[in-house]
Amino acid sequence: MGTMVVFPFKTERPEVVLRNIRVAAAHEAVSEVLCVGYEEESTYRAIADASPGIAKAARTPVTLRLQDRIGTRRPGKGDGMNTALRHFLDTPHDRLHFYDSDITTFDGSWITKAERGLDLGYDVVRHFFPRAATDAMITWLVTRTGFAILFPRSELPWIEQPLGGELALSRRAAKALAADHRVAERSDWGIDTMLAFSSVQDRMSILEVYVPQGKAHKLYGQLTDLKRMLVECFAAVRDLREETLEPGIVHHVEYPDVVPPSIAEKVGYDVEGTIQLLPEAWSERQMELLEYFPIPIRDGMVAARHRTTFSFLDECSWYDAFEVLLQHFDEADEDWADLLFHLWTVRVLAYTHEAALRGYSYALRYLHGMVFRYLYRAATGRVLRPGE
Ligand code: DGY
Repeated sequence: MGTMVVFPFKTERPEVVLRNIRVAAAHEAVSEVLCVGYEEESTYRAIADASPGIAKAARTPVTLRLQDRIGTRRPGKGDGMNTALRHFLDTPHDRLHFYDSDITTFDGSWITKAERGLDLGYDVVRHFFPRAATDAMITWLVTRTGFAILFPRSELPWIEQPLGGELALSRRAAKALAADHRVAERSDWGIDTMLAFSSVQDRMSILEVYVPQGKAHKLYGQLTDLKRMLVECFAAVRDLREETLEPGIVHHVEYPDVVPPSIAEKVGYDVEGTIQLLPEAWSERQMELLEYFPIPIRDGMVAARHRTTFSFLDECSWYDAFEVLLQHFDEADEDWADLLFHLWTVRVLAYTHEAALRGYSYALRYLHGMVFRYLYRAATGRVLRPGE
């Protein structure tokens, strides 16, 4: 009996990870902390050195191990989470929590809130938190957009942060997710998408708990930093296109709190650096692939190669572009990956200009409204525009 807390990690600031391990080990509900490392590098060694002391002081075992090779995609975070799922099922613990190891605002309340949700009998408790209006651009423009287009009548597009790595599972939920081969295969950034999908398809009950202090992490530089994550998250959504979901599961969301100025006023990425990147990494082949897209998108992208233009890729055009990508995108093809990245970059700039510049509360209302307009269009065929 008891709760196991897992921190998957790669190379992080050791002082941050160690602080988080200490917080988890000291929590009264926690019976074991498991750290799953990508490789034996400096962060791993720092944890190996410090964990016996932390375990002794807290009287809670702290286990450190490397991730197994489980999936079929790039070895990454998914292998780490799947290793933890299997490890957990070999223990007698009845609850499993995951937290990203680099959170600088992590404290015991993250664990307490999730525990309360599990006390109430939910299968899955997911954390959500305020994020800057220009942060979470894969979440909004890829994952929630894709869920709205593919599964408009399901609960999936209503999940606040489907890419969030902070969640807690009952043993039953962990067992079901570990048994899903599609989850096991996703060794890369696509794991979060697959966990969200599989839990909804399996009709697990879900509670989303709000963490008002947010999850502090560094500003992304130019959007290129996110390219790999973008491609893997898009591929994970695309692979779901033949799936079906029944509407209606138990899904409750805690009412959010006031957003701290540090988040409301934060700029999530380097806008100027990103604009300067647009003319880079084009190939003639990408120009050919643009033939699949409606003419205004194709012409707009051809122009974006040479001058700063992005407003053409508005909300409705992004839906059109997304449908083409769902049909034709090939993850193994570098030109498709580069083109997806170009399209998404232009869409992020367009969104920044049309919504984020109007302030945090406008932007967040816009994004939630956008998901609704997309699922409405997918379900009824009728196009709604912002404000309608
Ligand atoms: C997302 O979109 O949620 C990614 O974490 C990048 O911000």
